[in-house]
Amino acid sequence: METIKLDIFQSNILNTNEIHFPFPFDQVEYLIDGEIRIWNGAMNQVNSPIFFQKEGELSNLIGSYPLMDSETALLALNSAVDAYQNGTGEWPKMSIEKRINCMLEFVRLMKLERTKIVHLLMWEIGKTQKDSEKEFDRTIDYILDTIQALKELDRNSSRLTIEQGIIAQIKRAPLGVVLCMGPYNYPLNETFTTLIPALIMGNTVVFKPPKLGVLLHSPLLKAFQQAFPKGVVNIVYGEGQKVITPILESGKINVLAFIGSCRVADILKKQHPKPHLMKAVLGLEAKNPAIILPDANLEETVKECITGALSFNGQRCTALKILFVHDSIHDIFVEKLVSEVEKLKVGLPWEPGISITPLPEHKKTEYLTGLVEDVLNKGAKVANPSGNQYYKTVFFPTVLTDVSDKMRIFHEEQFGPIVPIVKYSSIEEPLNYVINSNYGQQASIFGKDSQQISELVDTLVNQVCRVNINSQCQRGPDTFPFTGRKDSAEGTLSVSDALRVFSIRTLVALKETEENKELFRKILLERSSGFLSTDYLI
Ligand code: G3H
Repeated sequence: METIKLDIFQSNILNTNEIHFPFPFDQVEYLIDGEIRIWNGAMNQVNSPIFFQKEGELSNLIGSYPLMDSETALLALNSAVDAYQNGTGEWPKMSIEKRINCMLEFVRLMKLERTKIVHLLMWEIGKTQKDSEKEFDRTIDYILDTIQALKELDRNSSRLTIEQGIIAQIKRAPLGVVLCMGPYNYPLNETFTTLIPALIMGNTVVFKPPKLGVLLHSPLLKAFQQAFPKGVVNIVYGEGQKVITPILESGKINVLAFIGSCRVADILKKQHPKPHLMKAVLGLEAKNPAIILPDANLEETVKECITGALSFNGQRCTALKILFVHDSIHDIFVEKLVSEVEKLKVGLPWEPGISITPLPEHKKTEYLTGLVEDVLNKGAKVANPSGNQYYKTVFFPTVLTDVSDKMRIFHEEQFGPIVPIVKYSSIEEPLNYVINSNYGQQASIFGKDSQQISELVDTLVNQVCRVNINSQCQRGPDTFPFTGRKDSAEGTLSVSDALRVFSIRTLVALKETEENKELFRKILLERSSGFLSTDYLI
């Protein structure tokens, strides 16, 4: 293995004096039943994807967190169950206005922790400073947008419906206890895209931070404790088998919100003794293709494909994971793409202008090398000079050409900085890829011919859940529906869809008699019910 460019990393390795965050960060605190408790048991080490010199040795140990046992996990669950109290607890019965106030207080406290959380994002998962800041700010915006969407939802249900002599008030009620588990690539944002709507709709929550990206939640323990009533938010840490299995096997979870792999989602769902009683909201795998037509604007397409395939090193479920390029423009497209890929700066997350950073997953560079070896053995090529080079946790962006369906990369979700290119002559080839794929999240089309694009759109919308024209695939804006077909998702998330996912339409109905009308009037006037109310939230 040649090691070109790798000296940048050696010269960039920091010694501990230069680290601008106090490491080691040993998080011994945990939040259960409204109490911040101290963990005295086993701890799990946190290894950063970034290496540094410590006492003359190369190290990447930046901290540790509790390796909880099953008993403690069940305490967290029971605390959420007690706080929900079959829907009679303080939180599920609280008025929406008061719940919104708690959420606003949480936002106020969360904003104070921005710097710490951004640093931890960089250190734990290697996300660039710019993207780490974006993840934090996007999460704050998501919470504020959720509050607005809830107000809107509540306003629409503040009026009564009278149909066929029956008066009704139709609203949304919480579902119970929600287990939230987010992914490592957006450990804050994607965890919160389920946690926040689940909470604000009146559910109580147990959440487990992803395997990578745990410590960054630590600065928020006090905010959760102070903003919400006791037991509403509980956090578990440790190995899934020890902490998640008993929680699911208890049968007390009403909603599983999980973003991660299909394999883990299947295991989790089966652990509930009555899986049909647990609603599942799942964001899973994807292998979004870009279909590049003969008349595509090359400059723009290359730009979008680079961001689409390589931002956060390709570790986005929405990343462009395979490019189908028409043979008439294939060579010039590859030439331009390679030239831009070679300009990407590889380095540490806080360095200005950096694009490619160290990968946090265990043995990821070995996995990616394996994918490249497979294509090389089957006749494909590495098209860029720096491709297929790696150093510890850093893998240089690698453009592969002559990729075919015989190769693993054609089917596997690489979730890393590899850009496989398939040359096609008939449009049936990329379409068959989409039709035969196990995944169905999004696709991108690049071109100008309105007739051809319309035909492609009409086929693709029945295969995937978002078709992007002349742009990369992406989740945002967060108000847009985010979902997928086949192995890519179960349920739809967006700011407003998520409020629906974590609640159920529930109504109170009574015959339109004078006596009943009087009774209803009295309830409204005396404000004796939290559910029945015609108050208009402003
Ligand atoms: O990992 C999947 C994320 O939901 C992608 O979100 O398209 O905003 O990066 P993004």
